[in-house]
Amino acid sequence: FDLSARNTLKLPATARYGAFVSDAGQIAALDGFARREGLPFVVIGGGSNVVLYPRIEAVVAVLATKGRSVVRQADGSALVTAQAGEDWPDFVQWTVGQGFGGLENLAGIPGTVGAAPVQNIGAYGVELADRFHSLTAYDRVEGRFVDFERSDCRFRYRQSVFKDEPGRFVITEVRLWLPADWQPVLGYAGLDSLSKTADPATVMARVLALRGSKLPDWRILGNAGSFFHNPVVSAELAQSIDGAPRYPQPDGTVKLSAGWLIERCGLKGYRVGDAGVFENHALVIVNHGNATAHDVEGLARTVKSAVREAFAVTLQQEPLEVR
Ligand code: EPU
Repeated sequence: FDLSARNTLKLPATARYGAFVSDAGQIAALDGFARREGLPFVVIGGGSNVVLYPRIEAVVAVLATKGRSVVRQADGSALVTAQAGEDWPDFVQWTVGQGFGGLENLAGIPGTVGAAPVQNIGAYGVELADRFHSLTAYDRVEGRFVDFERSDCRFRYRQSVFKDEPGRFVITEVRLWLPADWQPVLGYAGLDSLSKTADPATVMARVLALRGSKLPDWRILGNAGSFFHNPVVSAELAQSIDGAPRYPQPDGTVKLSAGWLIERCGLKGYRVGDAGVFENHALVIVNHGNATAHDVEGLARTVKSAVREAFAVTLQQEPLEVR
């Protein structure tokens, strides 16, 4: 089952078995098949947050379920529902196109709706948790569909219960709540020059322009977005790093910019094989053409050890390795 065209890093990859899931009811049967074969069961959406190895000994399900709806409430807020296989950036455009505000800061993030809660996607001052209502997932341990409210999801910075218990839940439907009293979120550099009365479409256009100016388009240059989390460290450690951008957290810790740390190590543009640190933004690893997962792994190892040696900071990789 060839996955080479199903991952945004454009890594060559073939799975032992694979299937496109167009109906969530098929998940239990595929899971049962994987168990009988004694193979791991792996679910991917848009393939935008994975490092796929050349030969994957697993049953891979590509979630391709479609469907979305919006129900406006009496107070003017909206409950939006989407199936897991819907394309996230299309979905955001669709809500904003109908005049609903709330998701515009999350425009243009590659991937599917079902993958969005897993790492609590975030950008430009908004994260999915801020707009989250509830979701439905197939629980592979219990063998049934279960509903999650927001508190059940344990959302944190790029973390959730779905990352805490990897492989257990297959998210099939996500419900978001878009407020009636919408206000633009313009705190992030680049959005702060917009008018306080900007509408959702205007904010979305600016977000897309900002992303386009900083981040490579995977259709042109394969990548998986930010390759590392921004590290959260003690105030003492953060102080010891001269000139670093610092983002103090409510609990006294400080979030640092991984891109800045990597750039300071002189690694912009550095390559292992065809895997490279993106020239314009050091937090992104790109595929210059014929990179494999092994090149990406080697490059990531070099980046992590350089940052550890220079700053005593350990970077955590964002994309999941599938092998
Ligand atoms: N910076 C550098 N050198 C670089 C890259 C960045 O010095 O090579 C500095 C910038 O100058 C800036 C700071 O680092 O002072 C932050 O950079 P940026 O605004 O580009 O944001 P980021 O922290 O690198 C995060 C998210 C992105 C999200 C943007 C915008 C993470 C891991 N990444 O990136 O999310 O789009 O903020 O909100 O939190 C993703 O997760 O895949 C992703 C793209």
